[in-house]
Amino acid sequence: MAIREILEVPDPRLKVVSEPVSEDEFNDELKTLVEDMYETMYDAPGIGLAAIQVGVPKRVLVIDLQPEDPDAEPEDCCSDSGCGEKRPVLKKEPRTFINPVIVDPAEELSTYQEGCLSVPEIYADVDRPATCTVKYQDLDGNHHEETLEGLMATCIQHEMDHLEGILFIDHLSRLKRQMALKKLKKIRQAA
Ligand code: NI
Repeated sequence: MAIREILEVPDPRLKVVSEPVSEDEFNDELKTLVEDMYETMYDAPGIGLAAIQVGVPKRVLVIDLQPEDPDAEPEDCCSDSGCGEKRPVLKKEPRTFINPVIVDPAEELSTYQEGCLSVPEIYADVDRPATCTVKYQDLDGNHHEETLEGLMATCIQHEMDHLEGILFIDHLSRLKRQMALKKLKKIRQAA
């Protein structure tokens, strides 16, 4: 496994429309891509990643919402023994979606504050259908259909936008998007 470089705005590759994974591409190369995507996402850290964000224009997504594990004892916040802070243990729930298609987005909308590893440090409210049914394939090429809700519904729609070359800031008004990009520029200059 390897951590891959995450493309950031304004990299033009983020606007590319990704290609479907064909039946003969469910192979070791795809498995390696998905493993690397998980490693890259956990390292960032983030809860979702589309293949195009590591420069591969294929319709492949990984998501892990990593909810807090209520059964696990909180662990030390850091290796610094003087720190004393505790942090909740996060559960790993990796989900791989290949060639995902949304079949019936709900009319009801929900709003989440979104961020994106390709638009670092920027967060903004985005409205999206509150639930959606997704058809997709797993790593072995098997077909599935599943109805998603809550953060998972929002997350997969955000990731599927990447497959069309769309970023969450493209859902904002022109003014808000310009402000967000200006803020990002300032943060980069200060770094
Ligand atoms: Ni994103």
